Amino acid sequence: MNAVALPGAADFRLTDLRPTPDTMTSDAFAGLSSSPKRLPSKYFYDARGSELFEAITRLPEYYLTRTEIALMESRMTDIAKAVAPHPHVVEYGSGSGRKTRILLNALVDPIAYTAIEISRTALLSSVQCLGEEFPSIEMLPVCADFTKPVRLPAPTRRAARTLVFFPGSTLGNFSDDEAVALLRSMRATMGDHGNALVGIDLQKDGALIEAAYNDAAGVTAEFTLNLLVRLNREIGSNFILGNFRHRAIYNADAGRIETSLVSKREQIVALGGRTFGFAAGEAMEVECSHKYSTLGFAQLVARAGLRVVNAWNDPLDWFGIRLVAPA
Ligand code: AVI
Repeated sequence: MNAVALPGAADFRLTDLRPTPDTMTSDAFAGLSSSPKRLPSKYFYDARGSELFEAITRLPEYYLTRTEIALMESRMTDIAKAVAPHPHVVEYGSGSGRKTRILLNALVDPIAYTAIEISRTALLSSVQCLGEEFPSIEMLPVCADFTKPVRLPAPTRRAARTLVFFPGSTLGNFSDDEAVALLRSMRATMGDHGNALVGIDLQKDGALIEAAYNDAAGVTAEFTLNLLVRLNREIGSNFILGNFRHRAIYNADAGRIETSLVSKREQIVALGGRTFGFAAGEAMEVECSHKYSTLGFAQLVARAGLRVVNAWNDPLDWFGIRLVAPA
């Protein structure tokens, strides 16, 4: 583990376990060789991707973020009561820190805060701001892929419990099997007496969901296409952006938005000495966003040895926050 003290930054230790270009190349090879072709959505989040995602969270069509924030603000007293005092808060991802701020303000004496985030830029800017705002909470950021097991840095002051925080319905970006594996790893991270607070987007009218992933301003399309910009820059592929278009369709039976980049014409893409042929109209899968039912989510966490101990929904039942604990 590589722990770095950052010059000029607020007082925090950064643990840097970023994926290497080799990992990205082998993930891209595997995805482009499969049928249908796919690319992992975790690579959306370079500096530009994180910026575009931040812009998405403020779009009128993208109801998820504002609904979750309003839900947190209105139910925070109850949420804080349900969580043990003096926790080490471990967030999977870091985002803009808006939700983290609400949580840290409400919890009783949080000892330390660890964000595990793949984008170093997003991680550093969020932890820098939080460190200034919460000087009594030890900041222990980890730059890593949270889908892989991560050894947590130990806080200087002993924390009573670990509270995993996984807002934003990011869990929905994983297949059910992957989500169960991730929940199992959260179970290991929280230990026998810890908890996790998980934000989930709930099943609702498909038109509303589709609009959230096909915004009129085209920000989501740019976000999706930025994946190709990143691969071209970081692993030397030669995707031509104008040859692909964004498509997001709600699959009501599977309860998920399926986002693809569709090839506008027959073409060949080169990457690392290999070539990959695309047919005109061929869809390459780049992201799934699952939308949960109350029962479906309870069943999912049960597969990971967890149970739902508290549930909060917004008044329209669009978005939910669940407190889960070892079963
Ligand atoms: C991060 N994640 C929960 C977002 C979602 O809604 O699935 C990512 C996103 N993709 C397109 N718009 C937003």
